Amino acid sequence: MLRRLIAGAAVLAAALTTLATTPAAAADAPLRELAEARGRYLGTAVTAGKLTGGYADLAAAQFNSITPGNEMKWGSVEPTRGTYDWTGADRVVAFAEAHGQRVRGHTLVWHSQLPSWVSGGTWTADRLRTLMTDHITAQAGRYKGRIDHWDVVNEPLNEDGTLRQSVFGATLGESYIADAFRAARAADPAAKLYLNDYSTDGVGAKSDGMYALVKRLLAQGVPVDGVGFQAHLVLGQVPASLETNLRRFAELGVDVAITELDIRMTLPATDAKLAQQKADYASVLRACLAVTRCAGVTVWGFTDSDSWIPDFFPGQGAATPYDESLAPKPARAGIAETLAPVTPPSPGVCSVTYAVTSQWTGGFTAQVTLRNTGTAALNGWTVRWSQPAGQRVTQAWNAAVTQTGAEVTAANLSYNATVPPGGSVSFGFNGAWSGTNPPPAAFTCG
Ligand code: G3I
Repeated sequence: MLRRLIAGAAVLAAALTTLATTPAAAADAPLRELAEARGRYLGTAVTAGKLTGGYADLAAAQFNSITPGNEMKWGSVEPTRGTYDWTGADRVVAFAEAHGQRVRGHTLVWHSQLPSWVSGGTWTADRLRTLMTDHITAQAGRYKGRIDHWDVVNEPLNEDGTLRQSVFGATLGESYIADAFRAARAADPAAKLYLNDYSTDGVGAKSDGMYALVKRLLAQGVPVDGVGFQAHLVLGQVPASLETNLRRFAELGVDVAITELDIRMTLPATDAKLAQQKADYASVLRACLAVTRCAGVTVWGFTDSDSWIPDFFPGQGAATPYDESLAPKPARAGIAETLAPVTPPSPGVCSVTYAVTSQWTGGFTAQVTLRNTGTAALNGWTVRWSQPAGQRVTQAWNAAVTQTGAEVTAANLSYNATVPPGGSVSFGFNGAWSGTNPPPAAFTCG
């Protein structure tokens, strides 16, 4: 095996800089405007009963998509068989329409928050299928033309990626999913229809199961338009493969969205934890921005006073971008800075050096260093380049690296997101080559 150290000639100092953001200006702009300018929506789950005062003002000003946190669940809308209560759901939809916001409908078929007359009943398969499709027809029909995305089926999978044996899965098998989507399409042809689940954010057994399921459904002609990734995340643990995972679903021909983002921490919140949370929010937003078919990001409650976390994870909380008094937290700035407009090249913000440190027949190792040459800290960064001779990245460290064709994107991980002025960060990768292995001609960074 031929091994040689490439020095000097292969070191490319690239003072090329793009994607420089303007964090200070972005910090004050409404998040919904920043998102809109980047071709994404930014949504929040809300509680209908709280939509007054400062809570309502913030929800209206900062978000351009609204999800009812509970009000559209089967148990809320049809607590007793045949008796509908649309009060909460109507209120949320009316609020959204009054403020020029889209609505993510959540959710038509879910094993949880079912009325007891459904969950406790004994049903033949035919009867249950009819109940389910009648419910979808009634609810999606009521809001026909007013819902942007419907979570048609929520949380259909077990942790190992197999079909959850809910009342629907156990009684009807996987066919209930196809039936639900077809009923939803018939009831509201304009709505984008989503499958939605948790713990599918990174590549793993459960997301592999979801990937295979979506593939099967599409092959059967089932009208699945999108896949939602809930992203109920833990501080410092944004999956490194989030972007790769979103991209592989997008490549199946569906839209993707982050649908229930929150990032919980063990209380009390400290400055260090809130800074980490800011970086984590930023990396989730970056992953969505990096994937063209990512429609948007929804936070699961925008204020810590309206989050499910403390009730379900005792001792944990502070998971949202605003605190309990509706004051913005660093996480809110992380979202704003990541959504900040892409500006034309602005020399001096960062530079990149690239060195092949080792090369052998068919393979090589490269080290890339990003230096912050600006005056403000980089809070989250990406480096992009094009491989000039078909080289493929096979493994990377200290960055989340993805490659589509010749185009490579490297993004920070949670632990190296922040680069102070004058500071630098390095990451490396192994690559495969054949023929020649020239260095990239240019890099963009920011
Ligand atoms: O409405 C009653 C109220 O009358 C009663 O006084 C109170 C006493 O605890 O309970 C209230 O109901 C609660 C309801 O939220 C409304 O606040 C339920 O107990 C509580 O279980 C329910 O929790 C919801 C949870 O789904 C149920 O699984 C959360 O608010 C909601 O944020 C959460 O959302 C889910 C998504 O739908 C799907 N993905 C996971 C996500 C988090 O669990």
